[in-house]
Amino acid sequence: MDTEISLYAPAKINLTLDIKGKRPDGYHELESVMHQISLFDQVSIRAIPDGLQVYCDHPQVPQGEDNLAFRAARILLQKVEKKAGLEIKIKKNIPVGAGLAGGSTDAAAVLIGINKFLGLGLSSSELMELGAGLGSDIPFCIQGGTALARGRGEILTPLSRGPVLQLLLVKPDFSLSTAEIYGRFRMENVETHPSTERFLQAWTQCDIINVGQSMSNVLETVTLSLCPEIARIKEKMLEFGAIQAVMSGSGPTVAGVFLDAGTARDAYALMKNYYEEVFLASSFFGGDENGT
Ligand code: C5P
Repeated sequence: MDTEISLYAPAKINLTLDIKGKRPDGYHELESVMHQISLFDQVSIRAIPDGLQVYCDHPQVPQGEDNLAFRAARILLQKVEKKAGLEIKIKKNIPVGAGLAGGSTDAAAVLIGINKFLGLGLSSSELMELGAGLGSDIPFCIQGGTALARGRGEILTPLSRGPVLQLLLVKPDFSLSTAEIYGRFRMENVETHPSTERFLQAWTQCDIINVGQSMSNVLETVTLSLCPEIARIKEKMLEFGAIQAVMSGSGPTVAGVFLDAGTARDAYALMKNYYEEVFLASSFFGGDENGT
């Protein structure tokens, strides 16, 4: 057995996010295209004599039991009734509280990583089911690639590879609580819902212009009035050459889609004059890097 395993945990953006209604369990019924991107945390797992320890190098991320990755490790070990000594270290590159599934992807990497490290032999769908109990985005982070998500976000239909998107991400200098943004959502404030059908058609045809034009997120009806900075970032993205700019998840990060990497790089340089947390990324289609 290896003494240590290291995995890349990719961020996700929502290319579309529509809400169909409120569910009896308090969650919202989603229809959203989720897309993994080349912005990664790094998760390493190693054997220690006893106990479960989680460390993260980011001051805003809780250590130990309050960390989602810790809970993921514990629930997996409980399921297989195994007492293993494990130390988990998380190196954060994905901004925290950003709408990029940073916490969920670390938890997903922990489930995938421990399953591999200890040779537990659980299937991806078993890991996804375990993950769904901890957070709505975790099953997608385990499956990877691009998928149409329904239900709370855990019912997934994988999509074909689609076009490679050149992306610029900008996170303003504040974080948003997912629960609070969903809690403030009012269906009557939505004027236009995303057309998932139109998006999927453009996606299948690798038609980047129409992919861009079909991107939208109904949670912007909450955040644009609450945090005007998000609207300013969207405007700047378009001014700097993006074909579309949409908030990811419950925000506040805005993802801009560009026709080519050069324009995205120029926009990155301009955006850095205004914001600290700016990232270039592109579509990530899985493989060895996410440990699956
Ligand atoms: O599942 P997760 O813990 O990531 O969700 C955080 C919060 O976001 C939930 O407690 C809920 O308030 C809200 N949410 C929702 N509908 C969803 C997903 C999340 O209302 N489909």
